Amino acid sequence: MADLSIEFCGIKSPNPFWLASAPPTDKAYNVIRAFEAGWGGVVWKTLGEDPPAVNVSSRYSAIYGKNREVIGFNNIELITDRSLEQNLQEIAEVKKAWPDRAIVVSLMLPCEEHYWADILPKVEATGADGIELNFGCPHGMPERGMGAAVGQVPEYVQMVTAWCKKHSKLPVIVKLTPNITDIRKPARAAKEGGADAVSLINTINSITSIDLDRMVALPIVGTASTHGGYCGAAVKPIALNMVAEIARDPETRGLPISGIGGIANWRDAAEFIALGAGCVQVCTAAMLHGFRIVEEMKDGLSRWMDSKGYRTLADFSGKAVPNTTDWKYLDMNYQVIAHIDQNECIQCGRCHVACEDTSHQAIAQIIDQASGARRYEVIDQECVGCNLCEITCPVQNCITMVPQVTGKPYMNWTQDPRNPRAEVKEESTAV
Ligand SMILES: Cc1cc2nc3c(=O)[nH]c(=O)nc-3n(C[C@H](O)[C@H](O)[C@H](O)COP(=O)(O)O)c2cc1C
Ligand code: SF4
Ligand code: SF4
Repeated sequence: MADLSIEFCGIKSPNPFWLASAPPTDKAYNVIRAFEAGWGGVVWKTLGEDPPAVNVSSRYSAIYGKNREVIGFNNIELITDRSLEQNLQEIAEVKKAWPDRAIVVSLMLPCEEHYWADILPKVEATGADGIELNFGCPHGMPERGMGAAVGQVPEYVQMVTAWCKKHSKLPVIVKLTPNITDIRKPARAAKEGGADAVSLINTINSITSIDLDRMVALPIVGTASTHGGYCGAAVKPIALNMVAEIARDPETRGLPISGIGGIANWRDAAEFIALGAGCVQVCTAAMLHGFRIVEEMKDGLSRWMDSKGYRTLADFSGKAVPNTTDWKYLDMNYQVIAHIDQNECIQCGRCHVACEDTSHQAIAQIIDQASGARRYEVIDQECVGCNLCEITCPVQNCITMVPQVTGKPYMNWTQDPRNPRAEVKEESTAV
């Protein structure tokens, strides 16, 4: 049976599933029940200086799918609204009672060294395993010069990280904001500052919807609203890309990454790990479905690892990174063509409409004159293998994309004679 235990930047945990800094990790009551359910670790809800933050009502809004499943989640909550002393006391108690679980303390303080120098020994005294610097909160705190206001300026990221390394022996995880053009810049700055790891993503600036009667965005506070932070399933692709960017960057390669963003099951977690994450953090899925989702996560990951012959997470961590490349290095000679399984087809015609109106007119609609029966067939020579019909088809596996044997060798765009700047052409011009 696969061994799910990890050591992430020196922090040991019985499994890679941690709860992210957020309401699920707000107090001992929650964290104890999370540990009872089987979570390997938590990042405690962000602590700040006293007096504690004050929250508004209401705080959350969401984007729903057709069956009212939550696709995206938005919040305008601040950091902890409980006193520093109470939080630190509870962290110490929980760590003592659960020594095998990881407890990381999230921190957000003003950009002045003395605040950090003052709080770090207090956090260390709790017995916590590490700290996470919240440079990502996109609402409320940036207006006070904290959160994303720090995370968006690589120089600040580096400076505060260095203070933490100077004033504490604990591993320092820098949590990055996705509200930035190039995620590699703050990641490099964190590494320069001495960070032991980065975690990402925090939430994405968002307005989920507008109440068109009251003419105000959600969530409504009195008669007004403000932008919030977007998370949940909808942000997973953005998070995966940012994790991959950091994992691929020669300047940050090897820097441990804690993957966060839309993780709701073992497969999501495995995808982050395949792209280089050493552990994962979960918030929205736990808020929507409770702590027991970790059972499926552990069980599913372990079974899948067994089926693949992976004994430990290290066996597949980062395995998809070398296969994630720049567009210019993709094989121009690789070719797939859509294939329709006529036994599965329900003749809805969606693929035909999609390909006819917006792709390459490569799906013929054949109508039997006598019976009026319809049939859809791919015109192989017209199909460019874009996938649109497969995506549009309501029947899973009815349309498959079949790789073609072209007999042509790998050739990327830098080598392609059709590329005006291709190396081949440049060479031939030189000759
Ligand atoms: C209600 C709420 C409160 C949050 N509070 C914090 C916080 O205090 N500190 C922090 O670093 N991240 C906070 N986050 C961000 C999460 O830790 C996490 O980075 C983000 O939600 C993406 O993960 P998810 O898609 O699993 O929710 C909060 C998220 C939500 C939804
Ligand atoms: S893959 Fe694209 S081009 Fe080919 S049939 Fe489907 S929609 Fe048309
Ligand atoms: S979309 Fe799928 S089910 Fe509908 S006609 Fe095309 S192949 Fe058949």
